[in-house]
Amino acid sequence: MKLNEQAIDLVHERMEYERSRKAPPPDFPALPDIPGSRYVDKLFLALERERMWKRAWLFAGHTDQLPNPGSWFVTRNTGSPILVVRDLKGEVRAYYNTCRHRGAPLVTEESGEARGFVCGYHGWSYTLEGALTAVRDKRDFVGLDFSCRSLVAVRCERLGNLIFINEDPEALPLREHIGPMADELEQYELDKLRWVDSRSYEVECNVKVLIDAFLEVYHIKSIHQNTVDRFLDHRGMVVTLWPNGHSRMLTPNSRPDWRDPGTINMPKIQSITSVPANNNVSYHIYPNFVMPASDSGIPLLQFWPITKTRTRVVSSWIAPDYDPENPDPLWETRLANWERILYEDLQYAPQIQESLQSPGFQGMPLNYQERRIYHWHEELDRRIGLNQVPPEQRVAQVLHDQVVRA
Ligand code: FES
Ligand SMILES: [Fe+2]
Repeated sequence: MKLNEQAIDLVHERMEYERSRKAPPPDFPALPDIPGSRYVDKLFLALERERMWKRAWLFAGHTDQLPNPGSWFVTRNTGSPILVVRDLKGEVRAYYNTCRHRGAPLVTEESGEARGFVCGYHGWSYTLEGALTAVRDKRDFVGLDFSCRSLVAVRCERLGNLIFINEDPEALPLREHIGPMADELEQYELDKLRWVDSRSYEVECNVKVLIDAFLEVYHIKSIHQNTVDRFLDHRGMVVTLWPNGHSRMLTPNSRPDWRDPGTINMPKIQSITSVPANNNVSYHIYPNFVMPASDSGIPLLQFWPITKTRTRVVSSWIAPDYDPENPDPLWETRLANWERILYEDLQYAPQIQESLQSPGFQGMPLNYQERRIYHWHEELDRRIGLNQVPPEQRVAQVLHDQVVRA
């Protein structure tokens, strides 16, 4: 089901069905418990890191952060220092921030502008395109081939103005990887939206504790009683599972004509279709990118594993016609409201982590509403390799018939 104008009736029918059903659909499989050790076991988390995180497409930033040829910034969220650069032709590229001589960093600040990079240790010089051009005392190296000493590139592709990187040179191209979601995202004009704001928070919990929280709305009646729950109808929520672990959640407003009063006067994304404009859609690009899109602005959330029990949450906003020189004062309230909701989601995480590490936690029985979490775990096992996961930690592959492939 695509979220376009033709799909309106279908979407409403589906919401009505979800609201009125007395049980999951008859073809929905029982979900075996997710083994609790997947959240705490050192060996499992090491497998997760090496086989999944190190090979995943991960959000790095927005092209507004690279306004000119030579603009660059560094991201460390993937666990490696990666330099993201706009080259002289305007292309965005990524490299490890690692000199090919003895590994010193090429840049030591967080962002800046340069005509090329000169290593601060012994002065090797590189172009914005990553080529090694000069080596001090070249006469003292025997047989040094410059062409083999370019900066090590990291895959870097875009969805509109959103920059994604992948440390796996063999990874599928990003658009192919996200499959059916790519066409649907066209309507948000991601190539025109401007970078508004970005904040980060660190939380004492495993990264999956927080990813899980953003894949369901089962929690809103408890956690978001005084915020989101006042206008969302979680019982009408429609889920779409896509290949490669990606998914979408579409939640109707409790009152169909409800509009957020704080955004009514904000500029709108012109080409957005009415289903996402009038409901609450949230996209998930596996493993850690959550995008609850609306017509007047889109928060982008990422959850990064810093250690096994520490997570960085990065929350940024993109919006149509945002002018950083002259920001609309409505944004101040909007960002504060958003942060309040985010705090609601983060509040229990350290204590959940404490529980996960106790013998009281053995596993998670997930329900139909929570199936995006199960889908996430199934995908993790596929990426690790089904036979590589110890049998007692495996998640049975039961959702394949629920995945929409086109
Ligand atoms: S480490 Fe960069 S020039 Fe020596
Ligand atoms: Fe929440």
